[in-house]
Amino acid sequence: MSNDFAYDENWASIYEQFTSIRGRVAEADETAAFLERYCRGGSALELGIGDGRVAVPLSERGVRVEGIDNSDSMLKLLARRTGLITTWKADIGDFKSEKRYNLVYCAYNTLTVLVTREAQISCFRSIIDSLQDDGTVVIELPVPDVGNFIGGQRTTTTLVDGENTFLTSELHDPLSQNVVSTHLWFTGTSVRSLPYRCRYVYHQELDTMAECVGLKLAERWGDWARGVFTEASRRHISVYRRAGL
Ligand SMILES: C[S@@+](CC[C@H](N)C(=O)[O-])C[C@H]1O[C@@H](n2cnc3c(N)ncnc32)[C@H](O)[C@@H]1O
Repeated sequence: MSNDFAYDENWASIYEQFTSIRGRVAEADETAAFLERYCRGGSALELGIGDGRVAVPLSERGVRVEGIDNSDSMLKLLARRTGLITTWKADIGDFKSEKRYNLVYCAYNTLTVLVTREAQISCFRSIIDSLQDDGTVVIELPVPDVGNFIGGQRTTTTLVDGENTFLTSELHDPLSQNVVSTHLWFTGTSVRSLPYRCRYVYHQELDTMAECVGLKLAERWGDWARGVFTEASRRHISVYRRAGL
């Protein structure tokens, strides 16, 4: 199943503010510092590069960063920030690269935008074909949080302040591991409706997908500061290399 919820102009127009509210802009430098060491002075490919939140600080560290995204609106945001990063429009679920990279990475929750298991495995096949023999793959994912749906639905409040009310309404389909949601952002007299669909993945399922293409887990962290991954972790950063290295 393809994901019909694209990052259109509506998403792109609020992306920086949205990621800022979620604390993601503040941690971008730390993310870049984490990733830099796996590039070994070489190159990196970001899957779902977006507005360059991570790619821009990584390229400022001297890494040759390239990226793919399927949203013209998001790619335009990045192009406005820098001309140093080569990008192309493609589906991360099935892409081909002419080059091979020291690092292929997928940050935030981006792998989950592929809403079927098949598409996620297919992404791993594309990753392995674009990776140098001694290259590294880094994937950040949230730990699935599906315990408190009632009747398959929930609404959460992310932010309420004098200016903004930010609500998220979600429907859960446990059979496909899909969550369909709408973020509703009320400001003053206006409301933005931001649709989203994802397929959540448990960390051990991710390891199995990686093993399907010959990758093996090398490290797993609870955050970009290399905090320990525990049962309380809300996300993980998983580092893979070819099995046998
Ligand atoms: C959550 S954003 C992450 C952006 C950036 N990596 C970051 O960490 O801020 C997901 C990005 O993936 C892109 N995207 C969604 N589905 C995609 C697909 N099937 N192929 C390529 N890019 C996709 C979106 O346009 C968006 O830019």
